[in-house]
Amino acid sequence: MNDRNRHPDNNRHRRGPSGAGSDGLSDGRLVEVHSQIARDKEEPQEGFSLTPILIVFLFCGFGFWAGLYLTRNSGQFSASAFDLDAPKAVAEGASKVFEPDAAKGEKLFLTNCAVCHQPTGLGLTGVFPPLAGSPWVAGTDERMIKAILAGLAGEIEVKGVKYVGIMPNIGAGLKDAQIANIATYVRSAWGNNAEPVMDTKVAEVRKALAGHAPYSPAELAKEHPLEAK
Ligand code: HEC
Repeated sequence: MNDRNRHPDNNRHRRGPSGAGSDGLSDGRLVEVHSQIARDKEEPQEGFSLTPILIVFLFCGFGFWAGLYLTRNSGQFSASAFDLDAPKAVAEGASKVFEPDAAKGEKLFLTNCAVCHQPTGLGLTGVFPPLAGSPWVAGTDERMIKAILAGLAGEIEVKGVKYVGIMPNIGAGLKDAQIANIATYVRSAWGNNAEPVMDTKVAEVRKALAGHAPYSPAELAKEHPLEAK
């Protein structure tokens, strides 16, 4: 009947590896410490707590905000973005300014125009008129832009030779910058010597034409009389 009291040390030894008796804690002190620890712990609850979910949301929100912040203020992650000695490079990178590029124009000319006008720009006598030394190419750039955008059909005289052919509206499928580069190349190649052409000029002419039917050379010459002879 007195089993519990017969081996009072047994229970203590089971509680801790060190043995309650060996470190000098009395039973009373042990119970006191234990109940203190038990009191400090939160009572287990049913259901779940909102706090961890809120923290996850806050964390994701912070990540999103950080992404936005970096996209807007990272200076394109360029090493020179905060280099005060290189403000020009940053400004140029920000707004891409079009620069007429004859080298790009040459490539585009070879794929879009050279079938007829030949890589030499000399055309085929009696079939395709030459662009080298052509007064239709020199002078105002609008005349040539219009021919490329709308096409050209009817009798035309170039360098003393008459041609009657049809040039399709190739420009309709090309971008403003591409046409500007092609025109810049044609106006500077094979001894031609006219001003480069800007993409904004092409855009302006394209808007004004608004799907104009192919020009006749006479109509084109009326709008833009040939300057050079
Ligand atoms: C399918 C053949 C063909 C292609 C491709 C072509 N042209 Fe033409 N081009 C012609 C013909 C034909 C004429 C003459 C039209 C006429 O008889 O009225 C002409 C006329 C011209 C003229 C005015 C006459 C002259 O010799 O100066 C210019 C400028 C011109 N083309 C530029 C271009 C450019 C730039 C391209 C490329 C974007 C191009 N052409 C693509 C056939 C072509």
